[in-house]
Amino acid sequence: MNAETGPVIFIDDNEDLLRAATQMLKLASFSPSVFGSAEAALASIDENFDGPVVSDIRMPGLNGLQLFERVKAIDPDIPVVLITGHGDVELAVAAVKNGAYDFISKPYANDRLLVTLHRASEKRRLVLENRRLRDAVVRSAGDIPLIGEAPTMIRLRETLRQIADTDVDVLVEGETGTGKEVVADLLHRWSKRRTKPFVALNCGALPESVIDSELFGHEAGAFTGAQRRRTGRIEHSNGGTLFLDEIKSMPPALQVKLLRVLETRQITPLGTNETRSIDLRIVSATKADLGDPAARGDFREDLYFRLNVVTLRIPALRERREDIPILFGHFLERAAKRFGRPVPDTSAGVRDRLMSYNWPGNVRELVHFADRVALGLEEVDTPIAPGRKEQAVSNLPLSEKISLYEATVIRDALQECGGDVKRTIEILGVPRKTFYDKLKRHGIDAADYRRNASV
Ligand SMILES: Nc1ncnc2c1ncn2[C@@H]1O[C@H](COP(=O)(O)OP(=O)(O)OP(=O)(O)O)[C@@H](O)[C@H]1O
Ligand SMILES: [Mg+2]
Repeated sequence: MNAETGPVIFIDDNEDLLRAATQMLKLASFSPSVFGSAEAALASIDENFDGPVVSDIRMPGLNGLQLFERVKAIDPDIPVVLITGHGDVELAVAAVKNGAYDFISKPYANDRLLVTLHRASEKRRLVLENRRLRDAVVRSAGDIPLIGEAPTMIRLRETLRQIADTDVDVLVEGETGTGKEVVADLLHRWSKRRTKPFVALNCGALPESVIDSELFGHEAGAFTGAQRRRTGRIEHSNGGTLFLDEIKSMPPALQVKLLRVLETRQITPLGTNETRSIDLRIVSATKADLGDPAARGDFREDLYFRLNVVTLRIPALRERREDIPILFGHFLERAAKRFGRPVPDTSAGVRDRLMSYNWPGNVRELVHFADRVALGLEEVDTPIAPGRKEQAVSNLPLSEKISLYEATVIRDALQECGGDVKRTIEILGVPRKTFYDKLKRHGIDAADYRRNASV
């Protein structure tokens, strides 16, 4: 028989029975945790518990039926097997009708219990696996590809493909709205970890008082108010990817602990001395350039070096203007579909604005703009963000129009020559120094157009 084994929680107030059950379960290759009371057992049960619970019905304190109700409240898919004595059979039958997995009458043959536990373990394993797969499907339903044809974006996608299925930790750097979370998500989905959890944690959003137990978990009774054992987020992401967002806002004390986790790949939940090994890939994100000591502030340098085995920098939208129309077209279509409207034609005014605005909120701001255009809310003459003075190209003075045109011509030429400066200069027929002056003035980096440059 290809029988499923694994953890089992076994509860009985009779010590001799507990000892015998432990031995029997171990012999059958289960990993039993035994408890003398329902209260004690409950502290070890949460929605991630990956096995069945077996309990005697008659016990002082919480009885087996009450325990079943509690477990059901934690996760109705945890199989609970009740052991009944004389006179409880009717109650046990009612409990099974109410969702308990099975009941077994005392005295029982070990084999009878083992068969039930094999089946219950298999069921539990399938439920948890299904949940993980469902999570993965839900995640990919909102599947966002990393759109962009700028040389930097093409290279970024190539690098992502290359490193996604390795275990290196990755630091993603980019201004707000550039797509850091999209990149983290792709690293997960393009890796073999995709069926395991992707756990995102915003290091700036958690109050310092709960961040420890949130990340590392705790045992019941580890501190006042810790009634139940809790699996921390790090442990929860075991096998998968832990996404640490906004790492610069991580409190200093936590930085030290995280560094230890990164070095040892082990955690120690609060209230235990026990260390647990974890297998995870850490992707972190930052808006600041943490490689620059001035920008790093009190973010630890050693932690920075640990996290950035590979750094991926996502360029701001204004540094890849050629992607603006592509992204806009995509978002406009998506918005029109969502709002059940026809895709509007892009007016000259909208087009002008796309190219003349500098998009400080990057792709996110462009998504919102497309939403407004799809809804017909975007008057071409209204400024994009309140208080920001933006003009359509058609309203710009001639000199600025020419300057914009010049930048486009230079970008096109660089693109055509694959970033080869010498050839670009020849094509454009300008002196070398003038060319470099113009690159500087327009904020263009020729390296971005070299196809095999590294990210
Ligand atoms: N290259 C891209 N292709 C398609 N959609 C993108 C791209 N980049 C960003 N987006 C979209 O833009 C929005 C912002 O992206 P995301 O949340 O990943 O940004 P972020 O860098 O994490 O921003 P913040 O620093 O503010 O958290 C999302 O709706 C995302 O789907
Ligand atoms: Mg983000």
